[in-house]
Amino acid sequence: MAEKAILGYLATSEEIPDSGQFASLHGFQHNDVVNVIKSLHGFRYIDAQDIKRESWVLTDEGKKYAADGSPEVQLFLAVPQEGSISKDELQKKLEPSVFKIGCSQAGKNKWVDMGKQVSRKVQHVEDKVKDLLIRIQKGEALGKDDINSLKARKLIVAQTWKGYSVKKGPNYAPTRKKVATDLTRENLQRGDWKELEFKEYNFNAKGPPAEAGHLHPLLKASIGHYIYQLRLAYGKYVKQQLKNIFLQLGFEEMPTNNFVESSFWNFDALFQPQQHPARDSHDTFFLEVPSTTRELPEDYVKLVKRVHESGGYGSRGYMYDWKREEANKNLLRTHTTAVSTRMLYALAKQPFTPKRYFSIDRVFRNESVDRTHLAEFHQIEGLVCDKGLTLGDLIGVLNDFFSRLGMSKLRFKPAYNPYTEPSMEIFSYHEGLKKWVEIGNSGMFRPEMLLPMGFPEDVRVIAWGLSLERPTMILYGVDNIRDLFGHKVDLSLMKRNPICRLGID
Ligand code: PHE
Repeated sequence: MAEKAILGYLATSEEIPDSGQFASLHGFQHNDVVNVIKSLHGFRYIDAQDIKRESWVLTDEGKKYAADGSPEVQLFLAVPQEGSISKDELQKKLEPSVFKIGCSQAGKNKWVDMGKQVSRKVQHVEDKVKDLLIRIQKGEALGKDDINSLKARKLIVAQTWKGYSVKKGPNYAPTRKKVATDLTRENLQRGDWKELEFKEYNFNAKGPPAEAGHLHPLLKASIGHYIYQLRLAYGKYVKQQLKNIFLQLGFEEMPTNNFVESSFWNFDALFQPQQHPARDSHDTFFLEVPSTTRELPEDYVKLVKRVHESGGYGSRGYMYDWKREEANKNLLRTHTTAVSTRMLYALAKQPFTPKRYFSIDRVFRNESVDRTHLAEFHQIEGLVCDKGLTLGDLIGVLNDFFSRLGMSKLRFKPAYNPYTEPSMEIFSYHEGLKKWVEIGNSGMFRPEMLLPMGFPEDVRVIAWGLSLERPTMILYGVDNIRDLFGHKVDLSLMKRNPICRLGID
């Protein structure tokens, strides 16, 4: 047994300098010796140091010649001692490859006369190639020229040999003690537990993987993120975490429990003209049943119609015929800003109080699905309604909000939305990708939207929106949204993906 041999050897000797030599000396397979060394090392019976050597091993062809002789010698021996043999006859006696290689090598060595008839030129030859190959098999070192010629004939290839040198370790003993892994009833009855040596617990060992439900990355990304950022000791899932951020900033949640919305609340009340391309069925899912809304606040509809057609409040409006039928059409909401609009309308009816609102929910867009777009996604939206707010307030609240998501470097770019002026796209510097990435859209709601609702003139509303999917894709390095969301998601992705901490300094 290799284990006994190694431990026994170390009882009287300082070191086993080379596991390879040790194996051949004691008649073990080197592999077996290596396995024993690893195991003994694990229990600190021995200390083992890696050693590496470049060595040569025979190729399959080399092995064949080491056993049967080189092709040139096989060919030579097939030629009669006296007289000659026809080349055709000779070919029949040998394997095709042996014949071919043998002819050229034996010719080069001037061992035979090669013509139609083949005859010997020398009496006796030595099989140097075979001898060299056997010496390599035995692990002997050869001279450079011999190595090069065998290498050129592809009879040997280089191989890194790995072994160990071995010394006694801190737990060395000449034989391995059997350690008990469990304390049994019998141990207690017999009383032998007093003598038994117990295996130590490995508190670093990984337990078996838990067969349980796993959080989707959309949920998980944010957990890791926010736990880290906010030092939250626990958290349920992304929505809850985002809610926590909004709640800490004094925002109230808006009710988003209606995927179906009328065009009026989704577009018209937001001063989005009826010819706007986003209102086309290419961009919006319209409902067939029920295709129209049952009721709208009539007084307000009139004011919205007027602001579209002829403006007011210092605006010229869009100067077109606003159609009620268009506003009645039901659709799947394309943004949660529809909900914000309903909420602002309700707010404007009350005596004025400043408000901070937020929502996180699903929206739908009739987009062709590709690597970065799905027909539905989750929108996070926040708004602040107060007197005298400025663009500076918007920038301030965005910095506050996004820094709590781990995105503290922001930049803003002027943009256009029908319902906000000014509008800004939000970019964040991604430390992992080393570039600026767009993460959201924002702006100040237009007077054409707020004043028909009945707000006092000095009331301003600043607002922003972002998708939940986009930052998650960036954080997880997912480049295809279909890998993240929808029916094509690989379920093992959910199990494998760690909590994401990208974006955190
Ligand atoms: N509704 C916008 C969107 O869908 C987001 C947004 C919300 C922009 C509020 C400005 C203000 O992209």
